[in-house]
Amino acid sequence: MTVHWFVDNVLRWIFLSLLLLDAYYLIFNKGIPNIRTAPAIRKRIIELLKIEVAKYNGSEPFTIVDMGSGNGLFTREIARAFPEARVIGLEISKTALAWSRRFKKLHKLNNIDYIDQDFYSYNLNHANAVVMYLTIFQMESMGKKLHEELKPGTLVTSNRFPLGDGWVPEQVIPVRTLYPHQKILNVYHQK
Ligand SMILES: C[S@@+](CC[C@H](N)C(=O)[O-])C[C@H]1O[C@@H](n2cnc3c(N)ncnc32)[C@H](O)[C@@H]1O
Repeated sequence: MTVHWFVDNVLRWIFLSLLLLDAYYLIFNKGIPNIRTAPAIRKRIIELLKIEVAKYNGSEPFTIVDMGSGNGLFTREIARAFPEARVIGLEISKTALAWSRRFKKLHKLNNIDYIDQDFYSYNLNHANAVVMYLTIFQMESMGKKLHEELKPGTLVTSNRFPLGDGWVPEQVIPVRTLYPHQKILNVYHQK
């Protein structure tokens, strides 16, 4: 195998694939990557949600919001785990929303609502739990929004990146996953 062969047969295709992926994010997702939360982290979040749901005694259904629900896989798992709860997926990507809605219908998960909206303009004052896996650049503004809008006691989980605006995680849970960069779950409650 020569360097020339390697560049021509391997590097060229890797480069082209990355370019296509970038073009996809740019055209369909405002440049924001749509990567899902690793299975082990999703499982850990559902365990945390179980504790919250068990102690909840409100009259409205327990409401869980996924900030940027992507293709909806995680919202579907949450909806299955908590059939009495209301699950809301906020998403700006039209393609991701179309997938999510199709699968919601296919799996007859009537306790999920997907909302085609920038999550910064969505008021979270009715949420009992908020889950997210966002970019580092969004964590400061998200921290500020959550401080302003969440009811005391609301659970917040953030995969990988900690919230900004002075939030201090009450737990930083290490989780073993095969996904690169997904090893840590930050857990908070609004004071
Ligand atoms: C990394 S994915 C996470 C998907 C899913 N929540 C999960 O944990 O598996 C982040 C999603 O957030 C969406 N997103 C990013 N900024 C957003 C915004 N301002 N409003 C709504 N959705 C947004 C992206 O389109 C992307 O689908």
